[in-house]
Formats: sequence, C-alpha cells, structure tokens
Amino acid sequence: MQTSTHSATAIANPNLAFVKYWGNRDNALRIPSNGSLSMNLAGLETKTQVRFDADLPSDSLTLNGHLALDVALARAKTMLDRVRKMAGISTPAEIVSENNFPTGTGIASSASAFAALAVASAAAAGLHLDEAELSRLARTGSGSACRSVPAGFVEWQAGSTHQDSFAFTIASPEYWTLVDCVAIVSTEHKPTGSTEGHALADTSPLQPARLADAPRRLDICRRAIRTRDFETFADIVELDSNMMHGVMMTSHPRLMYWQPVSLAVMEAVQRWRAEGLPVCFTLDAGPNVHVLCEVAYQPQVESRLSEIPGVLNVLSAAPGGPARQI
Ligand code: DP6
Repeated sequence: MQTSTHSATAIANPNLAFVKYWGNRDNALRIPSNGSLSMNLAGLETKTQVRFDADLPSDSLTLNGHLALDVALARAKTMLDRVRKMAGISTPAEIVSENNFPTGTGIASSASAFAALAVASAAAAGLHLDEAELSRLARTGSGSACRSVPAGFVEWQAGSTHQDSFAFTIASPEYWTLVDCVAIVSTEHKPTGSTEGHALADTSPLQPARLADAPRRLDICRRAIRTRDFETFADIVELDSNMMHGVMMTSHPRLMYWQPVSLAVMEAVQRWRAEGLPVCFTLDAGPNVHVLCEVAYQPQVESRLSEIPGVLNVLSAAPGGPARQI
C-alpha cells in the first residue's frame, strides 16, 4: 500500500433459503454438509465501511452505532486477518456497519453482514477478487453469506474444499417476480445462533436422511425456479423447511425455533393454498415465517398475514441484486 489509509464501502442484502444449509462437514471453513438454494432480499440492507489505517491502535467494529466486542468482533477480525494475509499487509482496520432491518430475528443478518464485509474489506485492502472468490471469502465468515454475493436466485454448491464451495446465480432477480412476505412474530434475539446449531446437526438421527435426499430437493427446486412452477416450488420449499426443523427438534440438545404464532401462520398458509391462493412458507433459525408468493398476490397475502393474532408486522422483499461496492 502506498498511503497509510484505504477505505471502501459495500452494500449487501440478506437472503432467504428455499433449500436450507444446516450442518457442516468442516465447521472452521464452513464447508456445508449439503448444497442450498436461495433468493436475495431486496430493500433489506447491510452497509459496511472498512478503513485500513496504520495509525489505528487495533481492529474495531461498530454495529448499528454501538461498539461491538467479544464474539462479533472476533468473527470480523478472522475475516480481516484472512484478507490481510491475501493482500500481504498487517494494517489494523475500523469497520462501521449498519442494518436497515432488525437483527437476530430469523432474517439472516449474518449473511448480509459478511457479504458486505467481504466486498468492502477486499476492496479496501486493494484486492481485485472475482465473484466466486468473494463468495468463498464471505462463506468463511458466515456460510449463508456466500449466497448474498451473487445476484438474484442463487445456488451454493456444497463442494468439499475451500476452492469448490461457493455460490453463483441461477436466475436473475427479474426472472421470477416472487415476494417474501415475512410475518414477524418476535423481535427478540434468538436463544441459539446458527453457528451453534450447525454443530449440533449431526447429533440428530434424522440428519443422514435429510442429507441423502438433498440432491433430489435441489434438483426439484432448481427446476421449479427455472420454469416458474409455483406449485412444485411450494411443495419442495415447505418440505425442506420441515425437514430442517425436524433435524433441529431432534438434535441433542434439541432446538425448537417455532412459537405458537409461527404454527398458526403455517396452518393458515396451508389452508389458503388448499383454497387456491398460491402461497407457501419457510422458516429459518427463528420463529418468523417467510411466506412466499408471486407479486400479484402480495397485497392479499400481506393483509391476510397481518390479521393473524400475534403477527406483529409484515416485511416484504422482492428478489435482490448482488453485494456491491458503492
Ligand atoms: C437456517 O449461515 O447463519 O438460515 O455459517 O454459522 O453463520 P453460520 O450459519 P448461517 O446459517 C444459516 C442457517 C439457515 C438456513 C440457510 O440460510 O440456509
């Protein structure tokens, strides 16, 4: 580096998985036990600035205006160290990051956080990485973050090494006008985070069956997206969510992310579909229910969801673009 300070800012969207990532074959590198498929969520954003400055006393992380310590800082530092090693520098960095959506509620803030951090820190360090390299880098911070690097509908090829585990676009954001209407049922921080959860996946006797069937679910879901076949998509998305939650509920210790209102929303969605409204649900590691439909049905779905007692708010997102430097 020629001068002592270099900075870059990046924006990334979180993503919602249709075929979920749950369990790793390598926890340190976050090489997943199965491939996954997702859609970026437009409008929900993490914006992150990274500044390498030789005059800084040490690395720091400010998250939504608060200085972060402990785990969050350690996780960010691990990514900075990786970037510094690639760039051949040892300069400390200041990270300033803001989310425009609530954290810790089942909307994966770690995905947008590490996708934005990967893009901003690589650029600030003077590295010129292509999309696959940025996706691999983001993956090491949070697995699902690798899917927030490319645009639109994205597949994460599980792979078995750092080199072959990355995500790529399978359809552009404009390809299918799907909407994720998130029924917020709780804004509390989740009791068990995904990282601890992944480490428990193999303690469930159901995980081997879930993994063995993953290639089939991926094929069906990929094809349903490419042909915009909502009926097939709905069945496979709900099956995949239920299989992951089956593993969670039967791991040791068990993880139970559903709340009574989550179940009420799932029941309502199934009823609406049986009555002819094309809609389906999926849940991540939290109680909020992601309800998917085509944009034409969005107003109806939003109003029906907000009438369910216990639904605090409905947040909607269309397919989003790639992580990008601004
Ligand atoms: C349930 O990517 O958040 O949302 O790699 O430990 O950061 P870490 O886990 P994370 O796990 C996401 C789990 C999920 C399913 C998914 O997004 O595929």
